Amino acid sequence: MTERRRRILVVGVAALDIINEVAAYPAEDAELRALDRRIVRGGNAANTLAVLSQLGHACAWAGTLGKDAEGTWVLKDLERRGIDTGSCVFHPHGSTPTSYVVLSRANGSRTIIHYRDLPELSASDFARIRPAGYDWVHFEGRDPKEIAAMLRDCARRFPETGVSLEVEKPRPGIETLFTGPDVLIFSRHYARSRGYADPRRFLCDQWGHTDARLLILPWGETGAYAQPRDGEVCFAPAHRPPLVRDTLGAGDVFNAAVIDGLLAGLAPPALLDHCNALAGHKCGLLGLDDLIASARAAGVLRPMPV
Ligand code: FRU
Repeated sequence: MTERRRRILVVGVAALDIINEVAAYPAEDAELRALDRRIVRGGNAANTLAVLSQLGHACAWAGTLGKDAEGTWVLKDLERRGIDTGSCVFHPHGSTPTSYVVLSRANGSRTIIHYRDLPELSASDFARIRPAGYDWVHFEGRDPKEIAAMLRDCARRFPETGVSLEVEKPRPGIETLFTGPDVLIFSRHYARSRGYADPRRFLCDQWGHTDARLLILPWGETGAYAQPRDGEVCFAPAHRPPLVRDTLGAGDVFNAAVIDGLLAGLAPPALLDHCNALAGHKCGLLGLDDLIASARAAGVLRPMPV
């Protein structure tokens, strides 16, 4: 954990997750009993914030919700965690995004069916966010046109603020967002969708398209890669918990650790170790509640430089 409380804004999805735990992932057209069911607040941005707030940071969320009971419930959950929801936009048309998750006890895999019919946060919504001396702003790489405008707005109004972008899914025009953020966090899925089986080669090939200072690429159960501008690609192995129970949101935890580590001044490979340790520890736990307390108790979180 960083010793200083930082102000962090995350822009992206908050959702309702309906999680059915099963003994093993079913075959198509099977009928089976769930062993347990949990309904929790999810969403990449919201999960990342839930971890950052456990780490002691002052967190704010900007995103959209449906004007429905689920939206109110999700908002309350964020508020309960001390996350500022003042920039939430409620849409009367469309419903709160919902993920139907099958969580396999056999290996902790999570299969997500996500439903959304809700407009995304727009650049004009973002323009209404008051400058609040943010130390970091993190974006999910979603609608490229809107996010591009938000990145420009961010650079203009919060010039001192560090900016990261998660590039999780291949979307038409997503590459236009590679100019602007300080840090790009790619997913293995994205790298593979671009035809790369070799993470090092993928990272090296991105420099022609970005002015970022650092590229990061988690590579699942293997570990994670990073490359600073004008530096070498470095790799840190994954931390595997004794039992993999629940991988839902592990990527969101990794992103929280990236932001936390960068704000504490970590550079790769120590930064990657921090991210792998937290994301790996999460895979041994159900859900995200008490993740940081549990990681501290297990000695997974090392003291950060002040
Ligand atoms: C996990 C997750 C879920 C959410 C889905 C879509 O990474 O954030 O909590 O429902 O992805 O955002």
